[in-house]
Amino acid sequence: MTAIGLGKIILLGEHAVVYGFPALAAALDRGVAIAAVPTPAGGSLRIDIPAWNLKVTATDDHPVARSLLAIVDSLGLGRPTVSLVGDAQIPPGAGLGSSAALAVAVSRALLTHAKRKLDAREITAAASASEALMHGKPSGVDVALAIAGGIGVFRKTTGLRSFASPTLRVLVGPSGAPRTTSAMVERVAEATASSADDPRLRALGGLTDTGTTALLAKDLVGLGAAMNRAHDLLSELGVSTEQLDSLCEAARVSGAYGAKLTGAGGGGAVIAIAPREREQAVLTEWKNVGVTGFVATVGGGAGTAA
Ligand code: MEV
Repeated sequence: MTAIGLGKIILLGEHAVVYGFPALAAALDRGVAIAAVPTPAGGSLRIDIPAWNLKVTATDDHPVARSLLAIVDSLGLGRPTVSLVGDAQIPPGAGLGSSAALAVAVSRALLTHAKRKLDAREITAAASASEALMHGKPSGVDVALAIAGGIGVFRKTTGLRSFASPTLRVLVGPSGAPRTTSAMVERVAEATASSADDPRLRALGGLTDTGTTALLAKDLVGLGAAMNRAHDLLSELGVSTEQLDSLCEAARVSGAYGAKLTGAGGGGAVIAIAPREREQAVLTEWKNVGVTGFVATVGGGAGTAA
């Protein structure tokens, strides 16, 4: 049986969410799928995801090996002689929640293999242990979306509040530039002296509220404006790059309502929302600079916004 962990996009509120502010985030309709099969002839726990060129044994000196051990320890599974065979429909290290999607899929696959029930709290704890190794001090938003799917507002204190929203079409542009979440979180800590009183963090948190209200009212112009403002603030905090700025600008010039980096920044992906008839123009502009974007449909259950 295959276990899934979903990728995500943060529509508004990344980085501010680390300081307790709300983030509006949505799961993608794709992620990481893992099947746990007994290792022939025994041997160590291992993982093989050909789509990411990833082949690691738990005893290797490799971040994914440490993450696997953190997961089995958190789940109290000892050292299972299992091969985790996977497929991934999101790129790794692109700001789309690939590491949380992987940790959730692995946790679910191992629990299923051990004939244990899939308890959301146990999976959250195991995937969070893995994320802490990968990213330092994660807010938990990626893990929450990888498990729950859907769309919602996440706060560190209250977790994910999912809701029915109009279906939203989001253009996603993985820049291809690698980034490190922990380094970007550290950069914001330096820029703000780690203070939740920093006006830019407060403004980012406020934009989550503005943007959520706009989304629920199917006001894509308002949502786009909030995204543009959020990108400028993230840029002021030092987590954008020239490439991300120009991908966002290309989207706006092509008629998008709004565009911003998504996730930690410093590379990774941009997102944009655009009138349906301008979507192709945005994707073509990105393609012209070597970025193959895609359309993700997020939210749902309350009509269509785009
Ligand atoms: C990463 O997807 C989002 C950040 O806000 C970090 C986090 O929330 O853990 C940059």
